[in-house]
Amino acid sequence: MATSTSAQPRDTWGSKLGFVMAAAGSAVGLGNIWKFPYTAGESGGGAFVFIYLLFVIFIGFSVMLTEFAIGRKTGLSAVGSFKSTDKRWTFTGVLGVLSGLLIMGFYPVVGGWALAYIFKVGGGLLSTPEAIGDSFGGFISHPMQPLTWMGIYLLLNVVIVMKGISGGIEKAGKILMPLLFVILIIVSVKGLMLPGAMAGLEFLFMPDFSKVDGNVVLAALGQAFFSLSLGMGCMITYGSYIKKKENLVQTTGMVTAMDTGVALLAGIAMFPAMFAFGMEPAAGPGLVFVVVPQLFAEMGGAVGLVLALLFFIGLTVAALTSSVSLLEVVVSYLIDEKGLKRSTAVIGSSVVMGLLCIIASLSLGGVGPTLFGTGVFDIFDLLTDKIFLAVGGMLVCIFAGWRLSRSDLEKEITNDGEISFPLFGLWYTLVKYIIPVAIAVVAVMGIKSGFDSGKGAIMLLGIGIIVLTGIFSKKL
Ligand code: PFF
Repeated sequence: MATSTSAQPRDTWGSKLGFVMAAAGSAVGLGNIWKFPYTAGESGGGAFVFIYLLFVIFIGFSVMLTEFAIGRKTGLSAVGSFKSTDKRWTFTGVLGVLSGLLIMGFYPVVGGWALAYIFKVGGGLLSTPEAIGDSFGGFISHPMQPLTWMGIYLLLNVVIVMKGISGGIEKAGKILMPLLFVILIIVSVKGLMLPGAMAGLEFLFMPDFSKVDGNVVLAALGQAFFSLSLGMGCMITYGSYIKKKENLVQTTGMVTAMDTGVALLAGIAMFPAMFAFGMEPAAGPGLVFVVVPQLFAEMGGAVGLVLALLFFIGLTVAALTSSVSLLEVVVSYLIDEKGLKRSTAVIGSSVVMGLLCIIASLSLGGVGPTLFGTGVFDIFDLLTDKIFLAVGGMLVCIFAGWRLSRSDLEKEITNDGEISFPLFGLWYTLVKYIIPVAIAVVAVMGIKSGFDSGKGAIMLLGIGIIVLTGIFSKKL
């Protein structure tokens, strides 16, 4: 592609693509294909999608560029980059590590479902389409089955991160992610051809703002952060590997576009089919595991089977390239700041994550403790994407805008003036003033609505944890 027009040697271009794919590997994951469709479904569709896109463009893009710039400038991972600049800011990195730990307290549960579905599809799931919905319900509430798959999935992460061989999984991602993209297109076309499918597109893209409340706006913000891997220092760590001569703005644009493209495509693959099948858009976390197999069953024969297998293999690999980046945030903190050996750090943190996942998985089957009537799976999800990541993103912006100097940032982003970024002033204003205020406003609206829907106490718990992290992080 770019080789004929670019004056740069091929290997530079190749390594640049490698970096973009690695960052996109972290971004594109369960957040796009599992979480985006069901959150859009539960949040009323079009208006949620519209607000999410606004947040991606005006907040997500700017925060990602900020994280890349901080990472490349300091050359350090999440905690180190804050600590080396100003010790008082260490807690922002620590909060990121905590987010990584908690997200890994439920992510492998869903990663395990994706893995299990490769085998379920292979074992004949598609031959009884009418039983697909019940089969998912039975599967996740059966205590041992999902736990076993979660364990295997987590183990795969351990092996990859322990050996530091994320290169292998990234290579697999480079083949399987484009393949997943193609399969999503095929599924979308198939879904759109079903009678009654247009209602699904309308649901997804025609905003009905009467359905919007603080909860929906906060969900859209949380989705943008979660999907783009922002607000917890992951992209700071990735930024520390970017070469000085690479164009941060362009890289940010490519990663953001790929991530958002996959999410929208997943929506287009699922909603038309759901409406055609007469299913509920608010079907919840099982959406992709019920709708997609049903579509493949509809296709029938060997083609349906092969595409379904490839879809769940692709989904599992996309999930893996994201979860290893989450695990790596926690592991690199333990190695860099606590002086642990890599193997001890990986095993120690994954044991904790595994325990959290066991409680989270059981909570979906109605087993295990609840807090204010909410199960552990939902609590981890609520605490992380709706509170910690948003607050983390706000802190990253305040740090860049008020603690780093404008000219240093300009030098970093423009490669000492070699790259022109005419929107630098706008980006800086967004980061310094507008995004922190916008996030604060959305958070307050979300907490208010949270109280109306009985989730307020959990949100206050989240804020309490952030305050405690601030107080105790000097010891960490
Ligand atoms: N972005 C990932 C996804 O969409 O599945 C999840 C994630 C990875 C969130 C890494 C945060 C992170 F730091």
